[in-house]
Amino acid sequence: MQKPKWIKNNFYSPTYNDEELSFFQDKEIEKVHRFQKTHNAFTETPLHQLSNLAEFLNVAEIRVKDESYRFGLNAFKVMGGIFAIGKYLAERLGENIDDLSFETLQSSKVKERLGELTFITATDGNHGRGVAWAARELGHKSVVYMPAGSSLERLTAIRNEGAEANITELNYDDSVRMCADLAQENGWIMVQDTAWEGYDDIPLWIMQGYASMSKEVVEQIEGELQPTHIFLQAGVGSFAGAITGYMIQHYRKNPPIIIVVEPNEADCYYQSFLTKEGTRETVTGEMNTIMAGLACGEPNTRAFRILRQYATGAFSCNDSIASLGMRVYGNPLKDDPRIVSGESGAVTLGLLYYLRKLKENLQISQDLSLDSTSRILLISTEGDTDPVNYLKQVWEG
Ligand SMILES: Cc1ncc(COP(=O)(O)O)c(C=O)c1O
Repeated sequence: MQKPKWIKNNFYSPTYNDEELSFFQDKEIEKVHRFQKTHNAFTETPLHQLSNLAEFLNVAEIRVKDESYRFGLNAFKVMGGIFAIGKYLAERLGENIDDLSFETLQSSKVKERLGELTFITATDGNHGRGVAWAARELGHKSVVYMPAGSSLERLTAIRNEGAEANITELNYDDSVRMCADLAQENGWIMVQDTAWEGYDDIPLWIMQGYASMSKEVVEQIEGELQPTHIFLQAGVGSFAGAITGYMIQHYRKNPPIIIVVEPNEADCYYQSFLTKEGTRETVTGEMNTIMAGLACGEPNTRAFRILRQYATGAFSCNDSIASLGMRVYGNPLKDDPRIVSGESGAVTLGLLYYLRKLKENLQISQDLSLDSTSRILLISTEGDTDPVNYLKQVWEG
């Protein structure tokens, strides 16, 4: 198994009162969660304890938020799409999202005012499915493009949500650019899960949508000890940035250690933390990894600002770490629950296992203060969203 690479973030400079964190305050995310909960299929996802695994790995606690249960869509991503589209429609109606429910936005009155809209996005799978689902639920259209090499299973899942979906010959970041051009040409609305110069409202709403998962975690562990370490997998980093933004402001008295985890083929945060000035670096090319959800080479500008300031560092992992995590989740010890976790969902557990069991690297352990008192939080961000590859990884290794 190839050793993961670690870089400490030398630009770590927490202030706890900057503008970025203000978007992720409890009171803001409370509103987001309120709106998401107005959908009649909304349920919280479980937060599991892996007590036997924690003992085996000699840490105090391992908790896992299992996002395979989210809205029956097998991944967390819809939490962003549902809030961003809801908020967009609210703005277009000139109303406050705080006063609206999903049902109101579905009503024929609203439809008459807005007409039929088309939302467009680029995706490696989960985000596009979430956008297609949310658009259809609200009575609108969606167009989805996937990068070259995307899984046909994931394409079918997106088409089944009613989207016009196709696979391009481009990589993820170039597919995003293509969708931005199409949106402009056709008057469609781009719902992308990453921000860039001049495009950051919708990506912020998507991140706020994700942050409400961490609000659920905080509520689920109320009265118990807070996590000391949070491992967060990153593609463009919107997910990791959102969870960090919320958790850091919520636990500001005793902020948890945030660790970014990426595939080595798309390790843009790792590469950025390696630079002398902490500049936002991009990775280009094919990004050939089984971690399809993390195969993104350009950090979201907002997420980058947050993670540069509040993350302790980043790991760059090869695919074997992800499949290790998938196998450990799928084969629990004693009465720990079994978790079906896909490639991008499981890499953080694979890494934790590696650090505690296979190779203890003293320098890394010191940087991370990872020891028998650590209380770890992981988020399994997807289930078996590519069922064929899931079985291949866990059975054939
Ligand atoms: C399952 C899964 N986990 C994590 C991520 C990472 O999210 P982000 O691109 O915001 O870093 C993705 C993104 O598509 C994903 O699909």
